[in-house]
Parts: sequence; structure tokens; C-alpha cells
Amino acid sequence: MLKPIKLAKRNFLSSLDISTTELIYILDLAKKLKNKVTNIEYKNKVLGLIFDKSSTRTRVSFQVAMSRIGGTTIDLNPTTSQIGRGEPIKDTARVLSSYCDLIAIRTFNHSDLEEYAKWSTKPVINALTDLEHPCQALADFLTIKEEFQDFRKVVLTFIGDGNNVANSLILCGALLGVEVRIACPKGFLPNPFVIKRAREIYKNDNLLKIIHDPQIAVNGANVLYTDVWSSMGEEKQKEQKDKEFDGFTIDTDLVSRATQDAIVLHCLPAYRDKEITDKVIESKNSRIFEQAENRMHVQQALLSCLLS
Ligand code: CP
Ligand code: NVA
Repeated sequence: MLKPIKLAKRNFLSSLDISTTELIYILDLAKKLKNKVTNIEYKNKVLGLIFDKSSTRTRVSFQVAMSRIGGTTIDLNPTTSQIGRGEPIKDTARVLSSYCDLIAIRTFNHSDLEEYAKWSTKPVINALTDLEHPCQALADFLTIKEEFQDFRKVVLTFIGDGNNVANSLILCGALLGVEVRIACPKGFLPNPFVIKRAREIYKNDNLLKIIHDPQIAVNGANVLYTDVWSSMGEEKQKEQKDKEFDGFTIDTDLVSRATQDAIVLHCLPAYRDKEITDKVIESKNSRIFEQAENRMHVQQALLSCLLS
């Protein structure tokens, strides 16, 4: 049985909470777990799940990942717990961490996640905030590694809103030395602190580019990636954002401008004929459902390391 790298008592709030070595280790362990060449057990461990926003993949992949290592999850619905009635995070965090071994949280403000982490006595995992989605990025880079093996030869073009998913792709990409291009409309840039930190890690300004023309951004790209134009919590801006992102749809024409072996990724859920066409989702280039499956494998690896 492979012994997971020790990340005990560490939080995973950001892609930057692990080193390049730890990241590569988690991806390798995830692949071994996926191929069933290793098996890890943490019997009776409990992961608490707090989701202030909807989720299909993150919730279920955490539940299945915990059950695969012999543990269990408790899904805390904010509306039926005291969380929805305004109990302070510092009280909830102290109480829940005295019952659970880990807590995964999906919420709006990243500062609320940090508040949970400050008061929790057990590791806290970011299951998505408005700033980052680091568990998603683990699955994305496992999917890329399965296809291209050598990260340093990969050009990843993200086409869409420069928010949580893009921010974590940038940071993880920087740790792995992947060239990342963000193609976004002018008002939808990634977080400036994320860009600054990524540039410090890359030590090469050419490896992170912000481009406003998707057709230029996909030239020579091996991976095309998109996300919804209107994220959870932005429902009222939907009509306006649909207009702002006009021209940023991944369609067969855009895919044909990338490299011949280019793959297409999407974190899901997808809005067909907005950020991506049905034809591309269902095309031979798509690795979208492999990517979704990989959420479970990388999270199983991550949980194992955080429990070690
Ligand atoms: N990609 C992702 O996080 O999906 P869910 O919102 O369904 O969890
Ligand atoms: N940017 C999207 C990601 C969904 C997984 C959102 O925050 O809704």
C-alpha cells in the first residue's frame, strides 16, 4: 500500500496551499487510485460538507471518495442547520471540527472560508469560493497529464470569465510550468493578486498571457477550457454577461484553430450554445466527462494526504 504524503493539519483553501512536489504527488496518487494499483484506508474518518451554493460533482465526488477510503460524510444543509440562521462561523467551525476530521466548504466570499479555517481545529478544504476552485484544478491537471504527460509542453487556453476556475488554473499551471492563456472580455480579468503570484512562480512573463481575442489565444493551444459565463450568485447579471461574452463560445471553428491533438475541457455544469456548443462537448476532442470523473480520484488522493 502506497503511503500518502503527509499534509496533516494543513488547509487546502488555495492551489498555492501545496507545493509543486506535493501537487505532483497528489496527481500521481490519484492516477494510481484510479487504476486500482493502490488502495488507501482511513476507516471511520468523517468529512463535513457545508455547501452554501448548489453542487453535483463536488458534493458527490467527495462523498464517494470518502466512502472509498472507508470513511463517511455529513452533508450540512445551511437552511436546515443553524448556519442559515446566522450562527457565527467561529462557533460553527469550532463545534464541527470537534466532531469531524475534515471540513469541505463551498461558499461565496473567500474570506468566510478563511474564517472557517482560522477557527477549525481540523483541515478545511475549499469546495469553491468566488475566488478559487482548487479541487477542480487538481482534476483538470490530472486530465491534462493523462493526455500529454509532460506539462512543460502544454499550452492551456481558458476562454471565459477570469474568476474562480480560471484563478485556480493559473496558480496550478504556474506550479506545474504549464503555459496558460486567459481569453476574456476586458472587464472580466483574473484576480490581480493571482496574476502577480503566478508571475512570481513562473519567473517567465511569457508563460501567462491575458488575451482578449479567443481566436488568437487558441493558436497553438493543446487544451481549450471554458466555464459558465454567469457563475453561481450572478443570476441577475446573466443577460448582460451573455452580451459581454458574445464571441467567446468554444465551437468547432475555434477548436479547428488549436493544435490537431487539442482536447477540450469544461468544469461543468455547461450551458450549451453559450460558452460551448453541444457539438464540441460531444466531439472526439472532448475530455469533459473524464475530467468530471477525475474529481473523485484527485479528491480521494487529497483527502488521504490531509488525513495522513
Ligand atoms: N465543477 C463543479 O464544481 O461542479 P458542481 O458545481 O456540480 O460541484
Ligand atoms: N464559475 C462557476 C464554476 C462552477 C463549477 C461558478 O462559480 O458558478
